[in-house]
Amino acid sequence: MESASETIKRIFGGKSNSVGSEMAEVSSRYEALDHVRFPKPAETRYIAVANQKGGVGKTTTAVNIAAALAYAHSKILVIDMDPQGNASTALGVKHNGGELSTYDVLEGRKGIAEVKQPSPAFKTLEVVPASIDLSGAELEVADMQNRNNLLKDALSDFIESSKTHYDYVIIDCPPSLGLLVINAMCAVNEVLIPIQAEYYALEGLGQLIQTIGLVQKHYNPSLLVSTMLVTMFDRRTLLSKEIYDKVREHYPHIVLETTIPRTVKISEAPSFAKSVIEYDPHGMGAVAYREAALEIARRSPAVLKTIQARKQRSN
Ligand SMILES: Nc1ncnc2c1ncn2[C@@H]1O[C@H](COP(=O)(O)OP(=O)(O)OP(=O)(O)O)[C@@H](O)[C@H]1O
Ligand SMILES: [Mg+2]
Repeated sequence: MESASETIKRIFGGKSNSVGSEMAEVSSRYEALDHVRFPKPAETRYIAVANQKGGVGKTTTAVNIAAALAYAHSKILVIDMDPQGNASTALGVKHNGGELSTYDVLEGRKGIAEVKQPSPAFKTLEVVPASIDLSGAELEVADMQNRNNLLKDALSDFIESSKTHYDYVIIDCPPSLGLLVINAMCAVNEVLIPIQAEYYALEGLGQLIQTIGLVQKHYNPSLLVSTMLVTMFDRRTLLSKEIYDKVREHYPHIVLETTIPRTVKISEAPSFAKSVIEYDPHGMGAVAYREAALEIARRSPAVLKTIQARKQRSN
């Protein structure tokens, strides 16, 4: 019997119908993903999704990479470090009715174990939610001596006492370079930078890399920019391709081959409190995020090796 993708190819196939051939392509990529095994990292990977530029796809990336990895049976903890609480919304966890949140964790009132909530969609995904009160934390902890390491300390306490092994801890950062982001960068080994495929994409990237450099120098010498992901990519425009090529030219070993297309389904999913992996599993957005997640998973040995080498050098 012919497969779904073969049927679509037969009906719509050929270069003359671009919508049809696009559907056929997505369908065969979906099927390929269902046959591939996502390798689990040998050790927990701690990844902050950061870019001080607003609206470049940080939350969408944190949420959908987490969902894609959880869908592939990896154990994931997402920490929402943004007072906007967008990642908590998109992952369908309660966060605006006085629930315990990242705020309580940073201020030392609660441990992560007491605050995290299970994802309603994925058995192996948990979320530490954030709400607007987190915006007060930056001022409230400003005078504390260990103010940059509040999340790091809470996270290591949790991981050390947890009976569960997590494959990935993914932190969604707010669009700033303030104390919340520094806390995230001190708590992780890796930064994933989403880059929106638009004209000003590379502006501000220098400043971000510089801040990461400062964190490396003063607090976290093994911090690695392990991954860049080009988001909101429009295949029909030359500009998107030019941006991708430029990022690739500057950061050849960091940028993923997969790009995330601009799709309506990706932007609609959060309003249904869902990741796109759940909301539109067969669509182009879900397929692209699962492919990006696969690339991330496959790069684990190399990334962990680099981090290990940096840790040894800095000791
Ligand atoms: N691939 C995509 N296709 C279509 N819309 C997208 C895509 N990625 C993100 N968006 C939309 O763009 C907007 C910004 O995305 P997102 O919230 O992920 O960015 P952000 O960097 O987290 O923003 P902020 O800086 O405010 O935290 C959202 O409305 C989101 O739904
Ligand atoms: Mg966001």
